[in-house]
Amino acid sequence: MHTELLEELSKIEAAGLKRALKTVEGPQGPRVVVNGREVLLLCSNDYLGLANDPRLKDAAKKAIDEYGVGAGASRLVSGNMSLHEALEDRIRRFKGTQAALVFNSGYTANLGLITALSDRQTEIFSDRLDHASIIDACALSLAKVKRYRNRDVGSLERLLKKSTARRKLIVTDGVFSMDGTIAPVREIAGLLDKYSATLIIDDAHGTGVLGEHGKGTLEELGVSHPSIIQMGTLGKALGSFGAFVAGPKALIELLISKSRPFIFTTALPPAICAASIKALDIVEDEAERRARLKSNYVYLRAGLNAAGFETPGSTQIIPVIVGEAEKAIKASERLLEAGVFIQSIRPPTVPDGSSRLRITAMAAHTKEDLDLAIGAIKDTLLNG
Ligand SMILES: Cc1ncc(COP(=O)(O)O)c(C=O)c1O
Repeated sequence: MHTELLEELSKIEAAGLKRALKTVEGPQGPRVVVNGREVLLLCSNDYLGLANDPRLKDAAKKAIDEYGVGAGASRLVSGNMSLHEALEDRIRRFKGTQAALVFNSGYTANLGLITALSDRQTEIFSDRLDHASIIDACALSLAKVKRYRNRDVGSLERLLKKSTARRKLIVTDGVFSMDGTIAPVREIAGLLDKYSATLIIDDAHGTGVLGEHGKGTLEELGVSHPSIIQMGTLGKALGSFGAFVAGPKALIELLISKSRPFIFTTALPPAICAASIKALDIVEDEAERRARLKSNYVYLRAGLNAAGFETPGSTQIIPVIVGEAEKAIKASERLLEAGVFIQSIRPPTVPDGSSRLRITAMAAHTKEDLDLAIGAIKDTLLNG
């Protein structure tokens, strides 16, 4: 067995796909210590700078004093604490839905939601660039799965037209996590009544960031429809951990009875719920964080474009596509040597030949930070 593992590893390495961990000392922030050296961080999803916010930390510390560290059991046994319910009530009000249910991560929320809604009479229509957790959820479901071209509503409609499935589920990322593009949700919503379909939107990267009040992609695009179910995460812009599904009460009740990743796992630690509640308050109250983030990503995109790089998408996630995996890894390594931490993203996370630097802006970056990053990327990719 050991020899086989080594052989498999060397094949992965030869294809330029071996992954290795980098150690970050201290909290997330615009600058972090990596391998003992301070560097500029441009690959964190802590977009609004809440992961190390003293108010979230105080809320978590108080909750530990009051409730202890662990939840002790799954929600349906004895782990359903008042803070889980308070968080769900806060999410329901934030999203303006009838109900919400918390999951232990975005990955498990997608698994739990999509598998619970699927049976052999279901067809799932998934965008080709949907997140890995959606792809895995589709694979685990009993449904027939069709994948449509990225953000191509015509391609989606052609598949819907042919479908005779009893239940039709369309699933899309709100903001595509490796591309920074926004899904055409208004146009997709226009198909829901015509084809009696339901839309699941994974708003992992829109939550807290998009829309006047940070409610996400639907608020940004001014879309609402009773057949839309929203999933969002609490570990990215909200600086905490976990995820949620928001929608009608009947859906949430069904998930409580049927969703295996909800049922068969220990509940989130109460301190995490307290931090998430505080984060939602801040997201609603402090629009200036979103404004700073936006001004930063607009500046960063413009600087990269002026340096000759195309930057697809329009959000805080900024891809610079370099092609082969090896090239992306080398660029990321050289940038780290130059004091700029940007991860390379390779297959299978992105399609073959589209390995990239995935750059993410934060509200707390200064314009000097961004100028430094643009200069380093230019030196690395153009002169390296
Ligand atoms: C679009 C999308 N969905 C789901 C997830 C999973 O969320 P989590 O990290 O909370 O598991 C992520 C990120 O990891 C994501 O980018």
